[in-house]
Amino acid sequence: MVHHADASNFDDGLTKEEAYEQVLMQAEGLFDGQRNWVCNLSNTASLLWHAFQSLGAPSNRVNWSGFYVIDPSRVERDQLILGPFHGKVACQTIALGRGVCGTAASLKKTQLVRDVEAFPGHIACDSASQSEIVVPIVVGSGTDDEKLVGIIDIDCAVLDGFDEVDQAQLEKLAALLASSCDWP
Ligand code: SME
Repeated sequence: MVHHADASNFDDGLTKEEAYEQVLMQAEGLFDGQRNWVCNLSNTASLLWHAFQSLGAPSNRVNWSGFYVIDPSRVERDQLILGPFHGKVACQTIALGRGVCGTAASLKKTQLVRDVEAFPGHIACDSASQSEIVVPIVVGSGTDDEKLVGIIDIDCAVLDGFDEVDQAQLEKLAALLASSCDWP
């Protein structure tokens, strides 16, 4: 299937809910017939970045959006490794339980951090980041075979960059990604 760069164009004046609806709709289209995790996370990183840039403050101050996945080189599955993203160069690996990303991963629970300075152990990849949301991507959620495969990480250069709308929509996106990709 041919996909077009227009998928990353977001009209001016969309509400945050509408922008997320477009991200989810475009993502579903892009994942149709494609299950490679690098391919699907790369296109999702593009959709998220352009969605945030199209919105008003504080969303347009997002300075990093992307993914970490479970590092397949460690049989213990105890470390995240950097995945596809938009933004500045970032930490390559993060131990489960460390920082906002490692905490979300080990607890399998979204971390909505309104002020990163107030989060014990926050890892400052970029000193510009002031708030952050990290959403776990879990395969087989609620079953005995539940398995964390990665996380969505979004950073914002102002305090209070994210709210419950971001959490609800990104959790939908994480569920879509969990079921749409073959994971390492
Ligand atoms: N701040 C994150 C590290 C990843 S970067 O923000 C891209 C953390 O505390 O886990």
